[in-house]
Amino acid sequence: MKNLWIILMLHLLVACNTGQEASYSVIPLPEEISQLDAAPFKLDGKVSVLYPSDNTLLKRNAEFLSLYVKESMGILPTVTPFDDTVSGTKAVILALDSSIKHKEGYRITITEQNIRIEGQTEAGVFYGIQTLRKAIPVQPEGTVLLPAAVINDHPRFSYRGMHLDVARHFFPVDFVKKYIDLLALHNMNTFHWHLTDDQGWRIEINKYPKLTEVGSVRHRTVVGYMGSGKYDTITCGGYYTQAELKEVVRYARERYIDVIPEVDLPGHMLAALAAYPEFGCTGGPYEVSPDWGVFEDVLCVGNEQTMRFLEDVMGELLEIFPSRYIHIGGDEAPRTRWKQCPKCQDRIKTEGLKGDEKYSAEDRLQSYCMKRIERFLNERGRQIIGWDELLEGDIAPNATVMSWRGSAGGIKAARMGHDVIMAPNSHCYFDFYQSADTGNEPLAIGGYIPLEKVYGLEPTQELTEAQSERVLGVQANLWTEYIAATEHVEYMVLPRMAALAEVQWTQPERKDYDSFTSRLTNLLALYRQKGLNYAKHIYDIKAEVLPDTLKKTLVVTMNTVDNAPIYYTLDGSKPSKKSLQYVSPVPVHHSARLHAVAVRPDDDSKSFEKEFWFNKATLASITLSTQPAPNYTYKGAITLVDGMMGNENFSTGAWLGFIGENPTAVIDLGKPADIRQVVVNSMTYMDAWIMGITGLEVFVSGDNKDYVRVAKREYPVETDIKKRNIEKYIADFQLTKARYVKIVIRGNSVLPQGHAGEGKMPYLFIDEIQIE
Ligand code: ACM
Ligand code: ZN
Repeated sequence: MKNLWIILMLHLLVACNTGQEASYSVIPLPEEISQLDAAPFKLDGKVSVLYPSDNTLLKRNAEFLSLYVKESMGILPTVTPFDDTVSGTKAVILALDSSIKHKEGYRITITEQNIRIEGQTEAGVFYGIQTLRKAIPVQPEGTVLLPAAVINDHPRFSYRGMHLDVARHFFPVDFVKKYIDLLALHNMNTFHWHLTDDQGWRIEINKYPKLTEVGSVRHRTVVGYMGSGKYDTITCGGYYTQAELKEVVRYARERYIDVIPEVDLPGHMLAALAAYPEFGCTGGPYEVSPDWGVFEDVLCVGNEQTMRFLEDVMGELLEIFPSRYIHIGGDEAPRTRWKQCPKCQDRIKTEGLKGDEKYSAEDRLQSYCMKRIERFLNERGRQIIGWDELLEGDIAPNATVMSWRGSAGGIKAARMGHDVIMAPNSHCYFDFYQSADTGNEPLAIGGYIPLEKVYGLEPTQELTEAQSERVLGVQANLWTEYIAATEHVEYMVLPRMAALAEVQWTQPERKDYDSFTSRLTNLLALYRQKGLNYAKHIYDIKAEVLPDTLKKTLVVTMNTVDNAPIYYTLDGSKPSKKSLQYVSPVPVHHSARLHAVAVRPDDDSKSFEKEFWFNKATLASITLSTQPAPNYTYKGAITLVDGMMGNENFSTGAWLGFIGENPTAVIDLGKPADIRQVVVNSMTYMDAWIMGITGLEVFVSGDNKDYVRVAKREYPVETDIKKRNIEKYIADFQLTKARYVKIVIRGNSVLPQGHAGEGKMPYLFIDEIQIE
């Protein structure tokens, strides 16, 4: 009998403490988590969420928390008001506390009796709720134990944004709401809604009904990459009524998110011009653009009717969007039409706009336009945001600059005393590829911004403390030229949004990529629970190939975020559990096709393939006469003889990009060798201002002093302004013995006629040099 009691007691004890433990190390990582040496709070079906009866915002917050718990655990806590004092236990209590310093800060106190979430504002409480929600394991077995703790937290930046382009492809209100929910989940507070562009106008404007009747409909769309010349015949369109726009604003506000609308002007206006051709310099006709890119037809700033049109549009916009900021674009507006247009030239004259060595009179016409719209909005209590082209000419005096062409514009604007939002295309363009293995990705605009790159953004680098104060925050952009489906949107932003969230919220000294990836697992589980189509590159095999030039060996290191077992072959055959298991770095001395697989129980197995090409130049000592452009230097000259070929993506590190001087490479084969051919790989990608090789000269030497020319080749200058390919440029010569090989590589000096950059210098991109 006594034994039975003991067993029973033990059972009870175990039962009291069973359940999965919550982890407060969520994304973004809170500022301070102090665990207390006390019993945990048990989250189960008996818990209720309490809010002060006089606070309807906290009531709404309580309902959010209750729904979040339901989503993760399947139980719906009751939501109950309280008056002056709270009594009872087993409750999550929401309250305001004016002693919390930061406007968006919060404190969570977890004891065995209850959980208190307090903020200076209701927004702070909302972020506390987001943290608690992410701390709860998804679909736990049994109840959830929340360790006793105090969490104090507040964001690093006051502007934490995500952008969505609904002009290139339209997304319905329901999806926009889902997107806003994603922002909330990642503690973001600003939704930048890119509502108009060449390919579609999406805002109902009462005074100009054709903007949506005509401007929201595209009758054909380019197939494949922009400029392919092939079009489908599908009608594609959509717009939001003013009631729908207001509903989105309301929905976002409930989640403490400001909606900043963008009407991009004076460029990117073909959709509006198709509807009202009289607002263009030539009078049209214009078409809602079936292609992507930058177009010469922009608004006629010399026409007073055009300016009135813009003010009318802004006037209606202000009635819909209560945000402090209105984004007025200003990017990518060619000056071509203005140079020819009598009205625009007239405006230049009457306004006394003058060119100088830095900016043309037409640049200043753009500034005139931006400043006029700024004045109109300032007079109505609003502020403008514009893309960093604002800095070209005379910047609108009160403008906030959104830095997109890298961080340089933002740095310049901050130094000039302007407020800045960092959205650099080096780290924050989520339309760029997230994997270097682009062949296995959906078609994207280009670029390469993996999760780790996003995470690594340091937005105030190069700024003094005072200048840093000008950086309001950070945002990522999702342009949708190549993104038509909502699932595809999810794939591009998740989980890169998680990395961005930590850039925006967490203090830099608390950031750590390894810690981030270990914490990401819980968030991915929540994405999965919500049925989101997130990208799984986090499970990829991370392979690093280090050249050992002394041993003429490539050393391949592989790992995975969760240490999943890796099996591999070197002959390209499909690996299985019977193949070699990876235990330590793999040396490769010959041409080989590495195929590795990380084996996992569920569908998250991932494979990795890499081909290595060995020839006489591979891992030889190489020097370059001129260095590549800083953005395209990566590991430098060794890249050209590392046995690995670049693919069609020029920014993965496999290509070196030169601008200006033509490079000469000197390769030391180590000892005299019989050779008869040099091959240089080069890329042509006209839309990216990249052109191939026009000439190769090969010299050989036994002593690196006296050289003899053995080959000279000329290749045709490219005139096809849309060309995109990778070519091998081959120079054959008579069999000769040499130790040193000097290769003089010549690129094109100007972009050809008809190209957007006609007459300007192109890049020369080269990769593997092979010697046989
Ligand atoms: C931009 O990406 N054109 C702002
Ligand atoms: Zn004009």
